[in-house]
Amino acid sequence: MAGADAPVPRCTCNVGNLATCSAVNEGAPTNRAMRSYRPHGSLARVLYDKQRADEQLEAYDKTQWYTVEKTKIREDLLRLWVPLGAGAQHDQPDKTAEVFLMKSIERSDSLPLQAWHSLARSALSWFISRTSINGLLGRGSMHVFSCEQFQKLMNVSGFSGPWHSLVDLGAGDGATTAHVANLFENVYATDISAPMRWALAKRKFTVLDVEKWHETGPYNVILCLNLLDRCDRPNTLLRHLKSCLAPGGRLVVALVLPFSPYVEVGERGDHKPSEYLPVKGNGLEGQIASIVDRVFAPLGLRCLVWSKLPYLCEGDLGQAYYFLDDVVFVLEAQPESSRYSASEWTDTGPTGQGAERGQATDGHVQQEYNTA
Ligand SMILES: C[S@@+](CC[C@H](N)C(=O)[O-])C[C@H]1O[C@@H](n2cnc3c(N)ncnc32)[C@H](O)[C@@H]1O
Repeated sequence: MAGADAPVPRCTCNVGNLATCSAVNEGAPTNRAMRSYRPHGSLARVLYDKQRADEQLEAYDKTQWYTVEKTKIREDLLRLWVPLGAGAQHDQPDKTAEVFLMKSIERSDSLPLQAWHSLARSALSWFISRTSINGLLGRGSMHVFSCEQFQKLMNVSGFSGPWHSLVDLGAGDGATTAHVANLFENVYATDISAPMRWALAKRKFTVLDVEKWHETGPYNVILCLNLLDRCDRPNTLLRHLKSCLAPGGRLVVALVLPFSPYVEVGERGDHKPSEYLPVKGNGLEGQIASIVDRVFAPLGLRCLVWSKLPYLCEGDLGQAYYFLDDVVFVLEAQPESSRYSASEWTDTGPTGQGAERGQATDGHVQQEYNTA
């Protein structure tokens, strides 16, 4: 894929503007003869390019999916990091991710299937969003975490139940919801796309209205996976999320970083969100602190643990699968009395008494920011 004539692997999961999938291009073979050779004929070229892209995926160092650059992460946040990879070093894909990748490779290699998807996509893109096309065609499935990874996050964050209710907001086709659904007595889901709602109902989840889901709570666990950068009103959503958590409940937020909002169905019509999330900082590591401090903390959401995973997306004729870096935060709602208000906030952090860095005793961010 290093050749100038070869396509750059992009994550085309559900939207058009996602960043280039992390660093697949780096370290690729640069042999000149290889670079300049390309078969004639469009199908042969597509297949040749796919083969080269797939070779690069195969050679890619997957430990990068699960590891972070620790020196770039603030000390108090580093203490909340939980590795979720498999193997002795906790930096390898687990069985569920491997199965997802294998299926994706198989499907992407099926020429009739991919030809049908490609034709149908071109025709349907005149009328409906890319997410809805994927829902209709049953393609573009995504993978965030396995049941074991979710359970690890719950355990480390100190959650041991009750397991009465789960709601997965913006659940897509419900593939990730399905991994954890068995842990709960009642499973609810929402999605703004009608074909995705049909897919969720087919899986027997109770599908709630995107505007009214918060009237059904409270929920023991709320999943908000890869939604904050895709929905029109992320601040309003976050406020509802907090108010709908049952006492002692957990909110699990996954975000593709670096943050790059893109709204398919919004009020503005230019794919920008109507509400702004104040995410700052460079790169994935640089943005984590700003999300915890500037997005979650002012709303009274305290980060208990976080981790990094690949956000995997089924492939196509371009390559066998796509991936982006996903950061998963497990949060709890703080009581109103222990929050600081937005007016206490400065660019360097909260200004209230006891807010100086380095005062944490139990490694929790809240310790530093508690102004009560
Ligand atoms: C990037 S996908 C994430 C799907 C799934 N949660 C995952 O992590 O794989 C974002 C999903 O959010 C849905 N969505 C966008 N705005 C929404 C809203 N306001 N309420 C519910 N779903 C929404 C989209 O239709 C899409 O299925």
